[in-house]
Amino acid sequence: MRPIGFCLRLFCIHRWRCSSMFLLISSLLLLLFLSLSPYLEECLSRALPIFYPNPSQLSSSRLASIPLPPFLLFPANACSPPPLLLVLVSSAPSHRDRRDAIRKTWGSLFSATSSSSLTLFVLAVPDKAEERSALVHEAVAHGDIIQANFTDSYRNLTLKTLTGMVWALKKCQGARFLLKTDDDVFINTLALSAFLKEKHQELQYLGWINWYVRAFWDPEKRHYVSHELYAGDHYPPYCDGAGYILSLGAARHLLQEAGNGPWPAVEDVYTGILAKAAGIAPRHVAKFSGAKSILHNSCCYRTMFTSHQITPRGMQEAWNMLNEEGGHWCPPLTLLFCKTFGSLWI
Ligand SMILES: *[C@@H]1O[C@H](CO)[C@@H](O)[C@H](O)[C@H]1NC(C)=O
Ligand SMILES: *[C@@H]1O[C@H](CO)[C@@H](O)[C@H](O)[C@H]1NC(C)=O
Repeated sequence: MRPIGFCLRLFCIHRWRCSSMFLLISSLLLLLFLSLSPYLEECLSRALPIFYPNPSQLSSSRLASIPLPPFLLFPANACSPPPLLLVLVSSAPSHRDRRDAIRKTWGSLFSATSSSSLTLFVLAVPDKAEERSALVHEAVAHGDIIQANFTDSYRNLTLKTLTGMVWALKKCQGARFLLKTDDDVFINTLALSAFLKEKHQELQYLGWINWYVRAFWDPEKRHYVSHELYAGDHYPPYCDGAGYILSLGAARHLLQEAGNGPWPAVEDVYTGILAKAAGIAPRHVAKFSGAKSILHNSCCYRTMFTSHQITPRGMQEAWNMLNEEGGHWCPPLTLLFCKTFGSLWI
């Protein structure tokens, strides 16, 4: 610490100046560190492949043999022509308002250009008969629902993710990427598609990385994963389930590693475990929000690819902000402010 003390003494003519100087320097350093930190993680994640095995060989029979429940509903010709990005939104039957909000906003974008996206909802079977028939009507009216035959419950979320992946690989092979997300997430589909268009590598697993989450073996815990599925003390790094990208090639490799069930409830952790087994390292992308909410502000919605914890009303507001005339300039460090202050204020 000596050289630092010496440098500080140079500034310290009076005691008060010393402490204000110290404050100034340390806050500048802090600001510098914070502003680089999102990108620091991006850099770090580039080193992850060193710790991963080589991608596994593909066997064509595996996809057909995973014992997943059969599909009940799906849009027949949704993927002709295929989009660049297939967005699969895990939704609950009772969240009709959230699905409608997405349909009216970012989910409405689909064009047959090379940067297009298509948004579909993935659901299972609700307990109540009236909810079941409402869902059938909704599927007929909108043609954007994938439903498989299992009980719709929180504990079955992983099954929804796997169902979506299998559907994509069977019925939407022409898409290049899929985005797994939830019905309370705002997606800047245009910005995300433009970003993905430049990604040419075949195996991609991108999102906001949870680096070092302790493994839970208590079945009561939300993050419980059985010993048979994963024996380590900490889960491998995984992209947060609020929104992550898998190229279709990567999804194929992951599904090959999926066992025959039962599957753990936490779908994002499980995806990370599958990716580790398949030899596909996640890549951190700072513009994904992860589980946190971001600042409710037009620059934030414009900069970020995903924003978590958005209500149906917030969805509409965010969409309006994104489509505002003018106001396309956003200050430097926007990303930092959106993320840091978002989690403090909301
Ligand atoms: C869906 O699963 C239930 C039992 O879980 C079964 O009775 C029903 O026949 C299945 N439906 C279809 C269409 O597979
Ligand atoms: C998950 O779905 C299966 C198949 O429908 C069902 O048997 C099981 O009870 C569900 N699990 C939970 C926790 O709801």
